[in-house]
Amino acid sequence: MAFPPRFLDEIRARTGLAEIIGRRVKLTRRGREHTGLCPFHNEKTPSFTVNEEKGFFHCFGCGAHGDVIGFVMRTEGTPFPEAVGRLAAEAGLEVPVQSPEERVREERRAGLTDIMEAAADWYRAELQAPEGRAALDYLRQRGLDDKTIAAFRLGFAPEGGGNVKQALESRMSSVTGGRQIELATLIEAGLLRTSDDDRAPYPLFRNRVLFPITDRRGRVVAFGGRLMGEAKAAKYINSPDTPLFHKSRTLYNLADARRAAYDGEPLIVAEGYMDVIALVRAGFRGGVAPLGTALTELQLAELWRHTSEPILCFDGDEAGRRAAARVAVRTLPLLTPGKSLRFALLRPGEDPDSLIAKDGKKAMQAALDQARPLADVIWDLEVGLKPVDTPEQRADLDRRLDEAARGIADSRVQSYYRNEFRTRLWETFRAHRAGGRQTMRARTAERTSWRPNATQDGRPVDTSKTDIARRRGQQVVLAALANNPSLVSEFSDEINLLELDGDLDNLRRELQNLCAGSADLDADDVTRHFKQSGQEQTLAGVLDAQVLLLAPFARAGTPTDEVRAGLRHIFDLQLQARRKAEVKTLGREMAETAGPADEARVFAFKEDVEVGERRVAEIDDYKSGEVAAGEGS
Ligand code: UTP
Ligand code: MN
Repeated sequence: MAFPPRFLDEIRARTGLAEIIGRRVKLTRRGREHTGLCPFHNEKTPSFTVNEEKGFFHCFGCGAHGDVIGFVMRTEGTPFPEAVGRLAAEAGLEVPVQSPEERVREERRAGLTDIMEAAADWYRAELQAPEGRAALDYLRQRGLDDKTIAAFRLGFAPEGGGNVKQALESRMSSVTGGRQIELATLIEAGLLRTSDDDRAPYPLFRNRVLFPITDRRGRVVAFGGRLMGEAKAAKYINSPDTPLFHKSRTLYNLADARRAAYDGEPLIVAEGYMDVIALVRAGFRGGVAPLGTALTELQLAELWRHTSEPILCFDGDEAGRRAAARVAVRTLPLLTPGKSLRFALLRPGEDPDSLIAKDGKKAMQAALDQARPLADVIWDLEVGLKPVDTPEQRADLDRRLDEAARGIADSRVQSYYRNEFRTRLWETFRAHRAGGRQTMRARTAERTSWRPNATQDGRPVDTSKTDIARRRGQQVVLAALANNPSLVSEFSDEINLLELDGDLDNLRRELQNLCAGSADLDADDVTRHFKQSGQEQTLAGVLDAQVLLLAPFARAGTPTDEVRAGLRHIFDLQLQARRKAEVKTLGREMAETAGPADEARVFAFKEDVEVGERRVAEIDDYKSGEVAAGEGS
């Protein structure tokens, strides 16, 4: 619906911006503005400002910016017309209805809404009436207390369905002024059904426990009805689609769940009504469920408006895992930066309702904590599909993963996925080549220990030119670290990967132990320590003038940022060298079995190498070429 601009201006003028924002953000007055912690990103010092005079909020931290309508839209996840409607109501303004058709439609919808609300109240009363006794017992026997029954407005449709028309007319007489409700309206609301023969319309829900389904604002738009006990007919039936209710867009309990989401709680997608109720009772306020179908795209879009990663629950059995994988595959094309899904696999044979009943909320929480990212589900699916023992089989896995990733429409997400899968393949297969399940680091450590060109006392066996350069490279890194011990923990991964001669290896270990023991050491502390432990000589060898001439950034007194950049540069070069060696091995391996897919894989790795090359070239051009040349065997 289009609103006249003057009406919007009126809303902006009549609502207090700081007052509305102040309900969510603690604001402090500062001159003409109010400031506070930005609700749209995480921050510790306020960069969020509200300018009442100009009618805008603005965050200098994340750039969020807008007026009062925009603020309501963003914080409540409501679309524009709804935000306008809410603010108008608050300001005591009538929302103008533009065309006569629109007015008719609005009135019709409003009429239906009243009817559904009245129906929910009537069904609720029926549950408490003598006729509802068995239904109430059924709900209690399923573990629901009166508070829960009231909170979810559970009801009961009497045997035979009751006289819907008459019941609603008497309940709504204050609104309708005693006017009759047309049968057509009740049919439109989905409460009555026309029969094929000439009999009168009859009630849809008969002798069922009813779960009112609300729209995102919490107004009743439909019902789900469950037979009590074991099913002779369909266990559940739902209202048909109506002008108010679109099954494929609606989620059970969304109105409350999205509020929970804005409080930072996860949105949890279960399968059924009873699961949602169990979740909420256990404190998981973000529980929602689709209505008897698999999650639709529209429902997913709705969830993503309120949270970036809804968690989907699945039975942990084979069928459940397959269902999870299907959803993951179907979701790939829809991914955008930041928006994804997580998958919680429950104990085999359980849904959230039964899991919580048996093992309590802790078990549910544990399942949620272990929820897996979508990329993992896709990876597991493909890896689990076929063996990967031969190069051909690995190539096939590579192809399948790449095809899956290419299904992602968003190019940025797609490229990150392809990269991710490529890296995982690489690491998996290099572990394979090592003949075991070792990690990359374990393998590198192993390589270090059998390195043949270092003797026990650490002097290089071969003193050829490249070997001197190689040793110099090791010394530069250690010198930089000895002079800046605060960087030792920051670079611990890279330091562990260094391939060092025996004596320098000892120095590394000594330095790491020293720094692990105390947090903020400086260069003097390091010198003192090595002097005390009688290892002055080793340290002096590293802090040699020759070494420092080669890499001035390693000198004492260099600003930490420069040292950091210098180290990172060297580590990047080393990583590059390792990658190149990897491509070479891979190429050799594939020479025997090469097909187009293999070539593509080598090519992809080469691409990584080239990207790395460019990155290295971009960093400051201080003279460490020689240093790096010594690395990489
Ligand atoms: P389930 O069969 O898993 O039932 O259906 P449930 O939620 O565990 O229900 P209880 O515990 O037996 O009461 C999950 C959802 O599928 C839809 C309903 O929305 C239900 O909540 N459904 C199920 C139907 O629409 N029709 C059916 O006949 C069965
Ligand atoms: Mn169940």
